[in-house]
Amino acid sequence: MKPLKTKSEIREFALSVRESGKTLGLVPTMGALHRGHLEIVRRALDENDVVIVSIFVNPTQFNNPEDLDKYPRTLESDLDKLRDISGDLHVFAPAVSEMYGDSVVSRKYNFRGLDQVMEGAFRDGHFDGVGTIVEALLRLISPHRAYFGEKDYQQLQVIRKLVESTRLPVEIIGCPIIREADGLAMSSRNGRLTKRLREEAAFIHKTLQEAKKRFGTKSALKVKQYVEEAFAAHPDFELEYIEIADARSLKPVQRKNRNKKYRAFLAAYLGGVRLIDNLALN
Ligand code: PAJ
Repeated sequence: MKPLKTKSEIREFALSVRESGKTLGLVPTMGALHRGHLEIVRRALDENDVVIVSIFVNPTQFNNPEDLDKYPRTLESDLDKLRDISGDLHVFAPAVSEMYGDSVVSRKYNFRGLDQVMEGAFRDGHFDGVGTIVEALLRLISPHRAYFGEKDYQQLQVIRKLVESTRLPVEIIGCPIIREADGLAMSSRNGRLTKRLREEAAFIHKTLQEAKKRFGTKSALKVKQYVEEAFAAHPDFELEYIEIADARSLKPVQRKNRNKKYRAFLAAYLGGVRLIDNLALN
């Protein structure tokens, strides 16, 4: 598997796939692939004749330059992992200059408030960066379907909005969160935790599961307070936010409505590593 590197190569390849009447799936990633990514790739291969995985550490979605510097770049081992998957699988791994030219900046989007809360509130400009690169990939490749994980649930909703407002002819598919045996959501950042903190990290999912139990009988406010107190009592974590929000609009829930779906979302620092997770509550 030799990755395609230029926009013209990938455009031409994708066009030839579509012209041959085959269906084309796209899985955008930033590499450092783990089982969470690979499950998405397998699903895309199940549902499409040909799949393109993009591997591109997108500078414009990093609000923190140190985070961008530290982001793992492991193209060779990523390619090895993808080679183990059988199917008509191709990789697009462009350089930053190929995607952005000389001007490494985001477009500005109106995501109707979806980008103002949670990750958007704490990571300035993050979703404009995500929107810029995802729109560019969708226009370049024109896949029939594009796949995103619920690990980044807010990102998934933002991308649905992007596709709705640009009327790009692509189906956006959300894929469930893949977790380690102890419940920790898989992430390239987990590798930055010390062995001791890696064990503590299971606390995130456990606390969200307890929140879900309480959500059956208690108000959203009470459930949030429970999570805040649980994290305050833990010596290693610093909670950045806990939100209980409508799963579609991402608006914080005021009063529960039986006909709506809610999710709990949180971000927390553990030994300087920022982790996010979310869970469906009903
Ligand atoms: P990245 O963090 O590499 O994730 C690529 C895709 O894999 C995203 O859709 C993400 O939600 C999904 N994913 C990551 N870990 C997962 C897990 N444990 N379970 C399920 N899905 C998981 O998200 C990005 O890259 C970028 O923002 C991108 C969309 C590629 C734009 O640059």
